[in-house]
Amino acid sequence: MIVGSGYVGLTTGAVLAYLGHEVTLLDIDTRKVDNLQRGTLPFYEPGLSEILQDVKLNYISTWHQFDQTTDIVMIAVGTLSKTDGDVDMAAVDAVAQSLGEQIHSQFNGIIVMKSTVPVGTAASVKGRVERGLDARGIKKEVEVASNPEFLREGQALFDSFYPERIVVGTTSKQAQAILHDLYLPILQQTMQVPTVLDRPSNDIYPVFINTTSVNAELIKYTANSFLAMKISFINEFANVAEKVGADIREVAYAIGLDKRIGPQFLQAGIGWGGSCFGKDMRAIQHLAKEYGCEMSMIQATIDVNNRQREIVIKKLQETLHILRGKTIGILGLSFKPNTDDIRESPSLDILRKLLDLGACIKVYDPLAMQVCQSRFPELTVEYCENVETLFNGCHAVVLVTDWQEFRGLDYPELTRKMVKPIFIDARNVLTNEQINEAKLMYVGMGRGGLKWVKEF
Ligand code: UGA
Repeated sequence: MIVGSGYVGLTTGAVLAYLGHEVTLLDIDTRKVDNLQRGTLPFYEPGLSEILQDVKLNYISTWHQFDQTTDIVMIAVGTLSKTDGDVDMAAVDAVAQSLGEQIHSQFNGIIVMKSTVPVGTAASVKGRVERGLDARGIKKEVEVASNPEFLREGQALFDSFYPERIVVGTTSKQAQAILHDLYLPILQQTMQVPTVLDRPSNDIYPVFINTTSVNAELIKYTANSFLAMKISFINEFANVAEKVGADIREVAYAIGLDKRIGPQFLQAGIGWGGSCFGKDMRAIQHLAKEYGCEMSMIQATIDVNNRQREIVIKKLQETLHILRGKTIGILGLSFKPNTDDIRESPSLDILRKLLDLGACIKVYDPLAMQVCQSRFPELTVEYCENVETLFNGCHAVVLVTDWQEFRGLDYPELTRKMVKPIFIDARNVLTNEQINEAKLMYVGMGRGGLKWVKEF
């Protein structure tokens, strides 16, 4: 059984059901469950609805339906940030409480933490569940293992079927064996390749890491912090590259060929967004503080990331000068391509700041406009049906999300629709040829040699 039907819960449920396991998904949000039963997903993830059509997932919305013969209860509920950076554990605690109230003495399954949670959570969930059982006169030990996920939104199925590692934090041999069995078709890559996914050309088997729950919990935070740090690192250098007339893309490519560095997560631009990196770094900072450890690299990573968003506004001010009353187009709302997720999206910060500065804002996103409109109805922006409408009458356009479809646009034609052809490419998406061909006043991120392609 999986508790929570967010990105992690629903994707994991779909994948495990695809592998042939019997999966029940519990979410106490009855509206969500009704929708899922009707086949309506709470978010967009490529291939997920197709996989869900092929498999059988049972959906329930109350703990009364809990089956005592369940082998594994996976906790995949949301964990939000509190204002002090600590993780809001209310949902996880509520699940632990419910388990303490529901589990009978004959329950022989294990509990697995899938959500990203502070170090020590597996132990605290175990305590909470056992106290609940104790209060009902049941003397029983439960096993709580940590099994963090490393899936990326927009590529969640790929990452689930072809992970580089599966981390299982438990010292119980039984729990380890159960989880090893659960993932066996993935570990041995014996599952049938889903029609919505290609198998990667390099046949690599995932590494199964069995460790302690504390290690597993810290692995997750360390991995996300490192990835975010890589992005902030290259962004810091991008700013220098721009000043000295160098191209950060060339620099990133060259350093990435060194296997010790690696080519991934070196795309300079507006920086990272999304619900994970920021939340996780605030959480690890908060935890470290409790132990008197200073995390200066984490703080620098966050600072650089915040600065990147301000730099985009500065670039607009330098090129367009007065922003008040000017029409600015924002290409992309989601925090990354192939998702309609706008949580902590750089786009929202940018457009809010521009609205404060008195600009008129037009936006276009292939997927995320509806979500944005319904979550932030107060935003006085013009949602455009297509890219052409967006460019029409703009004094500047800012590309914020690197959607594939923004790469191949007819920029020469689109530029003609603008009042001024100022284009801030906050993801360095356009090629040198595209820039020259479109005769844009192009400003990238760390593309020193290319600034001011043409003066207007
Ligand atoms: C991230 C991690 O990559 C996953 O491994 C992890 O499981 C997940 O968080 C999580 O904790 O749940 P996600 O936030 O979905 O996944 O997306 P990423 O692909 O990591 O991108 C995060 C942000 O970094 C995006 O805004 C993206 O545009 C930005 N980014 C990424 C860059 O600015 N430059 C890069 O080179 C790469």
